[in-house]
Amino acid sequence: MKMELGKVYLVGAGPGNPELMTLKALNILKKAEVILYDALLDPSFLEYFPSSAIVHYVGKRAGQHSATQQEIIDLLVRYAEEGRTVVRLKGGDPFVFGRGGEELLVLRERKIPYEIVPGVSALSAGSSGAGFPLTHRGLSRQVLIMDGHTVLKEDTDWKWFAEFKGTIALFMGTSSIGQIAKNLIDHGASSFLPVALVENASLKTQKTTVTNLGKISEEGLSKQSSGPGIIYIGPVVNLIGETPEFSEQGFLSQGEEV
Ligand SMILES: C[S@@+](CC[C@H](N)C(=O)[O-])C[C@H]1O[C@@H](n2cnc3c(N)ncnc32)[C@H](O)[C@@H]1O
Repeated sequence: MKMELGKVYLVGAGPGNPELMTLKALNILKKAEVILYDALLDPSFLEYFPSSAIVHYVGKRAGQHSATQQEIIDLLVRYAEEGRTVVRLKGGDPFVFGRGGEELLVLRERKIPYEIVPGVSALSAGSSGAGFPLTHRGLSRQVLIMDGHTVLKEDTDWKWFAEFKGTIALFMGTSSIGQIAKNLIDHGASSFLPVALVENASLKTQKTTVTNLGKISEEGLSKQSSGPGIIYIGPVVNLIGETPEFSEQGFLSQGEEV
């Protein structure tokens, strides 16, 4: 007799602070029989895993072995074929540079039941955490999300990017931002265009560095931590205001006693 297939949940865990996980994600975690999780930044995430669950760490951390995408897919399929409830817990939102699409296509092809649970992406956690909006009437009515890891390797239309009127959010771009800044300026972007690097968004270790394209093209932009960083380019960065503080929960609270 063929065993009934289990269900796979592709779940966004949010940007690293467990308090930014959705209630739905939490409820699904409670019934998980298997959990495959990425580097989730805050170890307190593990508290939310049922003690009975089979847990696999499949994330990428510098200097450690990380599972290949194929190994992750094989695990998802194997456990689902054993009839188990599987949670694939991913940082941020599963469909924003999370390779969630590749996993989704395999599940569909294998006719494995699935559900996708969105998460708070670093896209909004970084800007909200630092204290500026992604869009603002009169300053930015468009947001472009860009992968800094591959943009220098591809045949990129730099003029188009340099002329973009809005907010550019650069994921995985902390090592390529120097060259990206030069390319944007060479193709007509203003050297004075403000730039913010937000590291460890949503965590107590969050750090924001504000600069501009010209300075980055001359001096580079160094990270101040080993955690992830997201970079915003555009006039909305000027709305950052005073240095934000963190409340007990690690959320931004400006003007509030902490
Ligand atoms: C593979 S992408 C995954 C993005 C994720 N799916 C999301 O929606 O946020 C990893 C990149 O997201 C950004 N990132 C993720 N978490 C972050 C955080 N807490 N603070 C700043 N950037 C973060 C960094 O640019 C990092 O290199």
